[in-house]
Amino acid sequence: MTILLIGAQKGGVGKSTIAASVAVKLAHMNKDVCIVDADKQQSLSKWHQYRSEINDIPRVNCVSATGNITATLKDLNERYDVLIVDVAGRDSIEMRSAMIIADVLISPLRPSQADLDTVPHLLEIFEQASIMNPKLKGFLVQNMCPTLPSVKDADKAAEVLGDTKLMKLSEIRLCDRKGHRDGFGYGYGVEEWKKETGKNSDAKAAEEISWLISEVLENA
Ligand SMILES: Nc1ncnc2c1ncn2[C@@H]1O[C@H](COP(=O)(O)OP(=O)(O)O)[C@@H](O)[C@H]1O
Ligand SMILES: [Mg+2]
Repeated sequence: MTILLIGAQKGGVGKSTIAASVAVKLAHMNKDVCIVDADKQQSLSKWHQYRSEINDIPRVNCVSATGNITATLKDLNERYDVLIVDVAGRDSIEMRSAMIIADVLISPLRPSQADLDTVPHLLEIFEQASIMNPKLKGFLVQNMCPTLPSVKDADKAAEVLGDTKLMKLSEIRLCDRKGHRDGFGYGYGVEEWKKETGKNSDAKAAEEISWLISEVLENA
């Protein structure tokens, strides 16, 4: 029913991490979720393998797909409530073919000049995809933002990104938190990891993912 594509021009910006936590949170909201791992690195397929060894957690399906994935997504979209598509951190056939059918593109970036420099090319691809897929909504999401209030990197990046008309700068900032990182290695999403650890900082990470989902689904 809804296809969320997590894509960016760079690796290491948090695409797979966000994809996993968004998928898990949606599964806890009783959605039938399928992850489509369209990155040859197969991070989410490995994450899913670890997840399959954990008992008493909601099911998240995961399939791999490469090349032109438009038809695969169209088919899977009829069978699931939400598809979460993870692609490689570069301009790829997987990203372009997913963009022409997706409802939402979520594009994470860090508040750094190197990541900001990738935005113009992403916007170009987004604009081209929008011609074929006018329903496509785009969100730029700042990830790994410093938690120290005195460090203003995310505010500075927001000033630059705020002018971006084609894609919306998300009101939600995901901070650099261990909670986003740690559970992934075991097959958890942050929603579950906060319960495992009981730590306040992990609850904050889970809250960020919930807010992101609300913002995206309200605007999808
Ligand atoms: N918000 C965050 N806080 C802390 N670490 C993060 C966060 N987002 C991602 N990471 C870490 O950054 C690294 C890259 O993330 P990953 O999801 O693999 O990026 P990508 O899929 O874009 O290549 C991983 O080690 C991951 O645990
Ligand atoms: Mg990845």
